[in-house]
Amino acid sequence: MTELVVRRLLIDLETPFERHWCGGDAFKTAFFNALSMSFPVGEQFFIDAVRAGHKTLPVERQQPMLAEVQGFIGQEATHRRIHALFNEHLDRHGLVNDWEPRARQRLKLLDGADVRHHLGITAANEHFTAIFAEWLLAHPEFLDGAEPRLKTMWLWHSAEEAEHKSTAFDLYQALGGSHQWRIRWFRRITLIFVGDTLRQTVNNLRRDGTLWKWRTWKSAATSLLGRHGLLRETFRPWREYLRRDFHPSQHDSGLSRRWLDANAVAYQAVGRV
Ligand SMILES: [Fe+2]
Ligand SMILES: [Fe+2]
Repeated sequence: MTELVVRRLLIDLETPFERHWCGGDAFKTAFFNALSMSFPVGEQFFIDAVRAGHKTLPVERQQPMLAEVQGFIGQEATHRRIHALFNEHLDRHGLVNDWEPRARQRLKLLDGADVRHHLGITAANEHFTAIFAEWLLAHPEFLDGAEPRLKTMWLWHSAEEAEHKSTAFDLYQALGGSHQWRIRWFRRITLIFVGDTLRQTVNNLRRDGTLWKWRTWKSAATSLLGRHGLLRETFRPWREYLRRDFHPSQHDSGLSRRWLDANAVAYQAVGRV
């Protein structure tokens, strides 16, 4: 069982920030903005899936997981709130969130489905966020030059994603979710997540007027495929999810603990909700 602390992030999200808040880099900014646009709807889905999955467990098996489930819900609820505030600034920058309505439509198809499907989808998405989070914590220089409060926001979110990466997976297993469906959802989510991220990033760049700038494409190539590029470094951990004996805890979360210890002034623990 993982002990999950809910933290209130002590950053100002009222003061407007620069359009290219990520070190003046249009690609990186558009990419992070795209991810943020997916969080309010996505993280609500994860919360609902985990809550429903936990309730479905036999009563005697609910208690041992209760604290972790509450911690997970508290952390994701805090992320949703913070990113909704961040996203309000993006509206003012003239960006349009097309991801959210598309995701809502898709999620309607799951109404009434077995909760293990909801958890399989959540576990797959959590693997994506965890490998992205661990990559970002390993390469905080990716955010060099970014507005400091926003850099803190992304690293705090990353640290907590790495912390709670096992919760949905463990519930899926506890409810007898099959390996076959776990993999099936993971493949589907890979296509959906990568496709949606790409679409929304391009959409953000188009509205920003920077889609066809050489610098944008250069940054995209370096950020994704360069020496420490995201795609290059996350391919292997992405693939490990396919193994029958995979468990999220096999990936070390030391960077998350180190960031949380070194940045304790940036947040306040509010307990386990
Ligand atoms: Fe989150
Ligand atoms: Fe998460």
